[in-house]
This record gives sequence, C-alpha cells and structure tokens, in this order.
Amino acid sequence: MSSGWSWYISIIALANILACVWLIRWTAKKRPGEAAEHETTGHEWDGLQELNRPMPRWWLWLFYITIVFGLIYLVLYPGLGSYQGLLGWSQYGAWEEEVESVEERVAPLFARYADMSIPELAEHEEAMQTGRRLFGNNCAVCHGADGGGRVGFPNIANNSWQWGGSPEEIHKSILDGRRAVMPPLGAALGDDGLEEVTAYVFNLSGRDAPEELVQRGQQRYQSMCMACHGADGQGNKAMGAPNLTDDNWTYGGSLEAIKTSIRDGRQGRMPPQKDLLGEDRVHLLAAYVYSLSSHLREEEDAGDDSGEEAASEQEQARND
Ligand code: HEC
Ligand code: HEC
Repeated sequence: MSSGWSWYISIIALANILACVWLIRWTAKKRPGEAAEHETTGHEWDGLQELNRPMPRWWLWLFYITIVFGLIYLVLYPGLGSYQGLLGWSQYGAWEEEVESVEERVAPLFARYADMSIPELAEHEEAMQTGRRLFGNNCAVCHGADGGGRVGFPNIANNSWQWGGSPEEIHKSILDGRRAVMPPLGAALGDDGLEEVTAYVFNLSGRDAPEELVQRGQQRYQSMCMACHGADGQGNKAMGAPNLTDDNWTYGGSLEAIKTSIRDGRQGRMPPQKDLLGEDRVHLLAAYVYSLSSHLREEEDAGDDSGEEAASEQEQARND
C-alpha cells in the first residue's frame, strides 16, 4: 500500500471515531431539566407523540465502551493503513498457522505408513482408503478417478507402463515427475515414409494393414524408431518410450492418432509431487497406484490371462 493511501485510510478511520464521540456527547448534553420536560419532536402517529429526550445513560456507556474497544483494537491489530499493529497479526500468518496445525495433526497419519513397504501397504485396507482420497484430490484430474487415464494422460491402472511398474519405478514417477520426448518425425519421414511407418505400427498391435506398406514401414522403423521403442516395439523404460505392440495408447490407437503422434511428436509431462505433497504422501500414493493393477499382476503370475483379456477389451473400448 502506498503511504498516501495509508494516511488516507488512517485519517478516515480516526475521523469516523471522533465523529462518533462528538455525536454522543452532543446528544448526551440535553439532559431533562434544560429543556421543557415534555418537549416533543413534532412527530405524532395516531395520538402517540414522540418526545425529544436524551438517550439513557446505560445506552451511552455502551457506545463509549465500543469506542474504547475500537481504539484498543486499532492499536493491537492492523487496521490503520499500513500500520501492522502491536501483535503483528496478519491474515496470511493466521492462514499459515492453520495450515501448520492441520499438517501437524495429519502428518503422523501418513508418517506411520512410511516404514511399510509399497507392496505391503497396497494390501492394507485402511491405508488404501486414505490413498484413494489422496488420489481423488491430486491425481484424478489428469488420470481419471479410476486411474484409467484419457487422451494425453496415461492409464496407470493397467500393466502397461511407460516408465516401469515396479514399486520403485512408480514411486519415482510420482516423486520426481517424468518428462517424455517423442520427437516430431514427419519432416524426416516424408509423406510416403509416414504412411508406411504408421501402417507398420498399426500392424504391430495386431491389426491388419496393407502388406507392402508394412514391409517398407518396418525398414523405416528399424532405422528411425528402434533406438527408443526397441527392436520388437516393446518400448524402453529408461526414456519412457511406450510399448507399441499392445492396445494401450496414451494418445489414441487409431490410424490417424498414431500418424499424428509420429508426425508431430509428443511431450508428455508428469508434474513432480515431491514439493507439493511431500515424501510420506507420495509413498502412500505409490502404494495406491501399485494396488490399482495388482490384480492383473497376480493373474499374470498365476498364468491366467483371462483377467488381462477383460482388461484389454476395456482398453479397446476406450481407444475406439
Ligand atoms: C528419442 C526417442 C524416440 C524416437 C526416436 C521415437 N519415439 Fe515414439 N515415443 C517416444 C516417447 C518417449 C514417447 C512417449 C511420449 C509421451 O508420453 O508423451 C513416444 C510415443 C510414441 C507414440 C504414441 C504412443 C501412445 O501411447 O499414444 C507412437 C505411436 C510412437 N512414439 C511411434 C514412434 C515411431 C513410429 C517412431 C519412429 C518413426 C518413433 N516413435 C520414434 C520416444 C521416441
Ligand atoms: C497435470 C496432469 C497430471 C497430474 C495432476 C498427475 N499426473 Fe501422473 N502423469 C501425467 C502425464 C501426462 C504422464 C505421462 C508422462 C509421459 O508422457 O511419460 C503421467 C505419468 C504418470 C505415471 C507414470 C506412468 C507410466 O506409464 O509409467 C505415474 C505412476 C503417475 N503419472 C502417477 C500420478 C499420481 C499418483 C498423481 C497424483 C499425485 C499424478 N500422476 C498426477 C499427468 C499428470
């Protein structure tokens, strides 16, 4: 606040209080006896006359008390322009204190899970209820309430991971965030090259494409894509290059969407949560994300892939 405004506000505030004092003294002066006992204001309704009498004393004292209260308040708290008040109270400080006290109460809630391993926590019902709430508040905007993702935001409830699905890898994805870089390759490929390699990628995930396009596309793939997406298209977790052979697509699996990914590139960014949520919450969230796909992992371990098939069908429906 500029000092001009500060003075302006202070003077108006004090002038108002002085005006109140003056007004009270003025009305208090006319005690009965000075004027005629029954002087009227001249107002009359249905035979009732309004008498001109001073305010009762107890009423005046209430006014004086409020004025004294106001003055003490203005000395202790900020109210006069940029004057901070003797107590140094501020709205921001009060808010910070409140956040701190909530954090103090809540932090132990998360801290008691810090020593448990992520797979252990994923089986812990109470911890996972808390995890679900945290996920709803902090992650669902991008990844969806069920972690199923949407265009541009990966599904993290299945077993197809860009950066890895181990407890440690999931934890790192959340704590430090991730930045993926798929370079735009349209110019390097040219129109024909783009058609061919698109057909090849389309075919990689088990769908039909013209044979000769696929064959030429494969050569292009080997020279331009293999370094990142792997010889067989399984992806590379070190750089977040996704598996191109499954039917899990972050940016859509239609011919058009795949072509756009290749031509224009993609730069997905997972925001780091370390400073936003802190280590203990991230630990719990990692366990929650891990738990979202644990039923798929178990089925895989048991050699039963029917669950996975059901999940693929869902996936297919989402991508269509
Ligand atoms: C420098 C490494 C790199 C190269 C080279 C590269 N990619 Fe990628 N690609 C990535 C990364 C990383 C992503 C993930 C981008 C993201 O998540 O935002 C990706 C994403 C994609 C996607 C989108 C997948 C989805 O889930 O929607 C397609 C399709 C794709 N790449 C195809 C190709 C093809 C075809 C080539 C070769 C012509 C190629 N990429 C070359 C790193 C690379
Ligand atoms: C602003 C949107 C946004 C928010 C909020 C967000 N994410 Fe992400 N997240 C992304 C994007 C985009 C990616 C993909 C990055 C890439 O292209 O590699 C991602 C990737 C991930 C991955 C790695 C997935 C893989 O396949 O390896 C995990 C795990 C993850 N997020 C968990 C979370 C959790 C838990 C939260 C909540 C604390 C969260 N995300 C909040 C956008 C978001």
